[in-house]
Amino acid sequence: MRFLPLEKLINLHDGYRKTVKVDSLEVLLIQDSGALYIVQSRCPHRGQHLQAGTVTGPKIECPLHHFVFDLVTGAHEGGACEALAVHSPVFQGNLLGIMIDD
Ligand code: FES
Repeated sequence: MRFLPLEKLINLHDGYRKTVKVDSLEVLLIQDSGALYIVQSRCPHRGQHLQAGTVTGPKIECPLHHFVFDLVTGAHEGGACEALAVHSPVFQGNLLGIMIDD
C-alpha cells in the first residue's frame, strides 16, 4: 500500500468539490459540513459525473436519474444499483490522500 496525495489541506473548505484524476483512478473529493468524502467520480448506474450531484448530509444524488448514494458506505438508497466506491481519507503532513495498492 502506498499514499496517493490528492489535495493540499489548505485548499479544503465546506462546499469544496473537485474531480481528481491520477493515472487510471478518478475520484471526487467533497467537503460538506466539515466532513470529507472521497468517492468514485462517476455514478455506478450509467456513468454520469457526480461532481454536479446534490449533497445532503452524508448522501449524494446523481444529477441524471436522481439515484441517491451514501457517501460513507457507498450504498445505493433502496439497493437497486451497484454501490459507489468509497475511499477513507488519509492525512500526511499538509496533504489529503488515499491509500492504494501497488
Ligand atoms: S447515471 Fe446516475 S442515476 Fe443514472
